[in-house]
This record gives sequence, structure tokens and C-alpha cells, in this order.
Amino acid sequence: MAERRVLVAGNWKMNGLSAAGVALAAEIARRAKAMPSGSPEILVCPPATLIAVVAEAIAGSPVVLGGQDCHAEPAGARTGDISAPMLADLGCRYAIVGHSERRGDHFETSERVRAKAAAAHQAGLSALICIGETGPERVAGRTGEVIAAQLAGSLPAGVTAANTVIAYEPVWAIGTGRNASAAEVAEAHALIRRLLAGRGADAGAMRILYGGSVKPDNARELLAVPGVDGALAGGASLQAGDFIAIVEAGLDLRPGSD
Ligand code: PGA
Repeated sequence: MAERRVLVAGNWKMNGLSAAGVALAAEIARRAKAMPSGSPEILVCPPATLIAVVAEAIAGSPVVLGGQDCHAEPAGARTGDISAPMLADLGCRYAIVGHSERRGDHFETSERVRAKAAAAHQAGLSALICIGETGPERVAGRTGEVIAAQLAGSLPAGVTAANTVIAYEPVWAIGTGRNASAAEVAEAHALIRRLLAGRGADAGAMRILYGGSVKPDNARELLAVPGVDGALAGGASLQAGDFIAIVEAGLDLRPGSD
């Protein structure tokens, strides 16, 4: 049975000015330092404007840093974009790619997401690749088909458990306060792991996170779902107490396993 270290990631999205961002990161770092060994891996993904100051605030703590997106090119005439080497340069270990807000607001196709994930790998970052169906797609019974298409389209060559994490984030559960049920999450995660295995990826070792209205009061149930190896939290990652409570929900659970 493969053992996978639980990962709890916080996506701050477009939130936080410098003073509040540093205070949030410093408090998360302080609480993380006090955690026992074998605790979940803790990842914070602040807006790009705060990455440098957050890096300082978490220095010396077990908290790791990630970007919320990266461009597919390493450098060039791309006004407003941020490349994977830029993230790595600031101490990031991860880059989220393919978040539904990027797919939606910025019309990012899975092909684009795949190029971004490859760029992350090229820069030595782990790609945290998000996939998930919309509400109407679920209602139409298309969840499995959408997950399969997004996964197939978004995974670059050379995916390993060390360089890639998948986040299953049903779009209808993001920011709505309505998380997917344990049964829905279990079914989607099992499908994703089967699809990964079918590609010859080291599926048993790859981590698959759940995201979508993860809160302190549902984290324990969601993290305990078979095949769930952690959580990607948005809103709840903006309060240190809530975010750490989600990490703590993963504390006494096994390292992720089926
Ligand atoms: P939420 O966001 O926790 O606010 O629903 C999750 C996400 O978008 O990753």
C-alpha cells in the first residue's frame, strides 16, 4: 500500500496587502513549527506581490511556498505574466496550474495548462494541477468524462509523484460553502487514480487533493475519504486559525493511503 504524505495547501487568490499577508504567513509559520513530526506538508500560495515577503516570514519553518499560476515560457515579452523560474527564484517549490478561475477568467485550455505544468517542471517546481467539473456538467452526468478529458489534456510528459500533485476541485464547490460529499469525492479520486495508473504514472504514490469549500468543520471528514491525500483551501486559508485547523484535521490521519 502506497503511503503519501498529506499535503494541506492554501490558495490566497487575489487577497492580501503586505502587512496582513506577512502577519498571516508568520502566524501559520509559528503554528507549523509547533507541530509534531509526521505532520502534513503545509503549502501557502500567496499572490505574486507577496511571495518575497512571505518567503521571509516563513523562513526557518516547515511551511513551503508556491505560486498561483505560471506562464508556459521561462521569460519574454509577456506583460503581466510570471514565469516558473521567477517563482523558483523567490523560493517557491510549487506552482498551481489550471485552477478553474484561470481556466474560466483567462480562457485557459487544458493544452495551455499542460504547457504551464511542463514549465513548472522545467524550473524544478512541482505542478499542482487542478481539474474539476462545473455544476451543470455534474447534473448532466458528465463528471467522469470531464475529469478524464481535463486530466488527459493537462498532464505533461514525465509526470511523477515527486513533481506533480493533482487537485480535484469541483467548480460548483469552490467558494460556495457547499463541499462535495464524501461519496462524490471518493468516486472522483478513485477515477483520477485509475486514469493516472492507465497512463503509467506512479499512480499509487501520487497525491490527489480535494478542494472546494474545505473548512475546519468538514476537513476531518474530507481528509478521511479513501484516496484523499490532502486539501486545497481557498477562503479558509486566509485565517491562520482556520487554515491550521485544517492541517490539524490531517494530523492524526494516516499518511495518505487507499
Ligand atoms: P474555497 O476555494 O476553499 O474558497 O472554496 C478552493 C479553491 O479554489 O482552491
